Amino acid sequence: MSEQRKILVTSALPYANGSIHLGHMVETIQTDIWVRFQKLRGHDCLYVCADDAHGTAIMLRAEQLGITPEQQIAKIQEEHEADFNDFLIEFDNYHSTHSEENKELSSHIYTQLQKNGHIATRSVTQAYDPEKNLFLADRYVKGTCPKCKAPDQYGDNCENCSATYSPMELINPISVISGATPVAKDSDHYFFTLPEFTDYLKDWTRAGHLQDEVANKLAEWLDSGLQEWDISRDAPYFGFEIPGHPGKYFYVWLDAPIGYMASFKNLCDKSDTLKFDDYWRADSKHELYHFIGKDIINFHALFWPAMLSDSGFRTPTKVCVHGFLTVDGKKMSKSRGTFINARTYLNHLQPEYLRYYYATKLTNSVDDLDLNLDDFIAKVNSDMVGKVVNIASRTAKFVAKSGGKLSATIANETLWNKFEQADSKIAQAYENREFSKAMREIMALADAANEYIAEQAPWSLAKEAGNEQKVLDICTMGINCFKALMTYLKPVLPATAEASEAFLNCKLEWAKPIIFLGDHKINKFKPLMIRIDSDKVNAMIEDSKEDIAALESKPEGWLGKEPIADEIEFGEFAKVDLRVALIANAEHVEGADKLLRLTLDLGGDTRNVFAGIKSAYQPEDLIGKKTIVVANLKPRKMKFGLSEGMVLAAGPGGKDLFILEPHEGAEPGMRVM
Ligand code: MSP
Ligand code: ZN
Repeated sequence: MSEQRKILVTSALPYANGSIHLGHMVETIQTDIWVRFQKLRGHDCLYVCADDAHGTAIMLRAEQLGITPEQQIAKIQEEHEADFNDFLIEFDNYHSTHSEENKELSSHIYTQLQKNGHIATRSVTQAYDPEKNLFLADRYVKGTCPKCKAPDQYGDNCENCSATYSPMELINPISVISGATPVAKDSDHYFFTLPEFTDYLKDWTRAGHLQDEVANKLAEWLDSGLQEWDISRDAPYFGFEIPGHPGKYFYVWLDAPIGYMASFKNLCDKSDTLKFDDYWRADSKHELYHFIGKDIINFHALFWPAMLSDSGFRTPTKVCVHGFLTVDGKKMSKSRGTFINARTYLNHLQPEYLRYYYATKLTNSVDDLDLNLDDFIAKVNSDMVGKVVNIASRTAKFVAKSGGKLSATIANETLWNKFEQADSKIAQAYENREFSKAMREIMALADAANEYIAEQAPWSLAKEAGNEQKVLDICTMGINCFKALMTYLKPVLPATAEASEAFLNCKLEWAKPIIFLGDHKINKFKPLMIRIDSDKVNAMIEDSKEDIAALESKPEGWLGKEPIADEIEFGEFAKVDLRVALIANAEHVEGADKLLRLTLDLGGDTRNVFAGIKSAYQPEDLIGKKTIVVANLKPRKMKFGLSEGMVLAAGPGGKDLFILEPHEGAEPGMRVM
């Protein structure tokens, strides 16, 4: 086999302000399969990632939750790591861009760019929130389109007439953060002089680091002229302060890719043998692969190589770009229930189903890929369960009957040759990220093995005495076909591969050509994979639907500053049946940021109610207390189950009757429900 390669691999760093969803999983599954493939082939391959922790959005989110950004990013990172882990993503290191290593490397790189005369300073006029004392990015300003007069448009362009403008050109602009009217304000910004790298990038983008379609797209930009890149943001900002410029911070996208290096540096510091410079110095011969989505190409294939080369580091061997996930042919949608979080999937289905399905869809092009839910069920059930696992389950029992030891004979040399010869074709497909091609090759082999077994029909032969050896030879053939298939599938199905190793009583190795297991004792067969039940898929979709989950979603970005609603008649108010309820039980809801599940006792009538009061209460502090509930509210199906009523007030009040306390976000005049 070829010489051992040293490869460092990354996936894009997920933002620390949201949950991992099945779109992100396209990328991490693609990367993980590729990395596991390289490791299986005997290469020295390392996979690092991190959370992308900086930026205004994270700062504001933490503020809303009343916690520090550090607490917020720690909480999300824990969630992200658990999601990836449960999808069997095997990182060698998972770090954060908000780390010492990243701070040092970012400062170092910036200082190099500056020394080389590639940082320019210019004054920029921007919308500024005079109440929050904050410069406002375009998406934090809303107002009426200056051209078509459509209301409620964002600060950069109009969704109605597609006009583009700057936020201060909006009619009646408001700050989305405070509701204040923004003012125009100047401040100094620092720019990376990207246009000076145009010739360098014209070469670099054509030097085999990119897919052709990506290089072509970039050529359009390179030909139409690059812009200087604004790499600074004013305080307050959650990020790293720029050396020598107090009050100025690195824009999140400056330090995000450096986060790849920082995560690797962190790994090196924990290892006795790994050396950071071996991988990152300008003349390093080790390979560096970045897996990314098509939306972040310019950051990785223009800014990043320019920054790296200018600061004396190596540039990536390859930037591998994938397309976006659609579900049933459409963009993921919260209302259709197709915006599926990783955790919601895992609550219902096995990770390997999705790993296999994505593998059948992944190519090395930037085309979008579709998760068609019917096809997902059909393909996993027919390929994984019906074809691959079936080979083992049909033959294992006959081997067990003859004492559990495989025969020494290769019963069908032609068939076995076919399995051996597929080796390089399948390996090549994995190497080139043509996983769908690899899966087709593997399933063609599975078909051949199933045909062979069906023709030989060991179950018929076994009915007559004297056929024992023949039956064992056939089933040995079957078991070996299964072993080869599981070896080829090991990067995709690591857990099933491990269970197969226990059954086969041998390691599934692919650093050398696959060998025939003869005269070898195997273990008892246990079912390796069960069929997908379509009910589970439906339940996952239901869980993902954003119902009137107003309770959960409204407080986010909600200012509580709505005008008082229209007057109602007393009769309308009297329809509301308010009851005192005893909180018989209160518990956390898995996956919910703000909700607690309450079991309410209304004097014999027991209700399940979800209440958005998690930030204020520990469940155990609520049990045994009383509250007031809207008892005749129509039950509604929420993401986490049925809610049969609504808790009106919360907080320890006089005589066990709950009223709101001042700290609960309800300032006088604010609407609480
Ligand atoms: N934080 C940046 C990346 C910094 S890398 C130095 C970012 N984060 S992200 O969370 O928005 O996206 C992370 C990765 O997931 C990106 O490569 C992005 O393209 C990918 N995907 C996000 N949504 C996706 C789909 N719906 N489908 C496929 N990939 C998607 O961008
Ligand atoms: Zn308009």
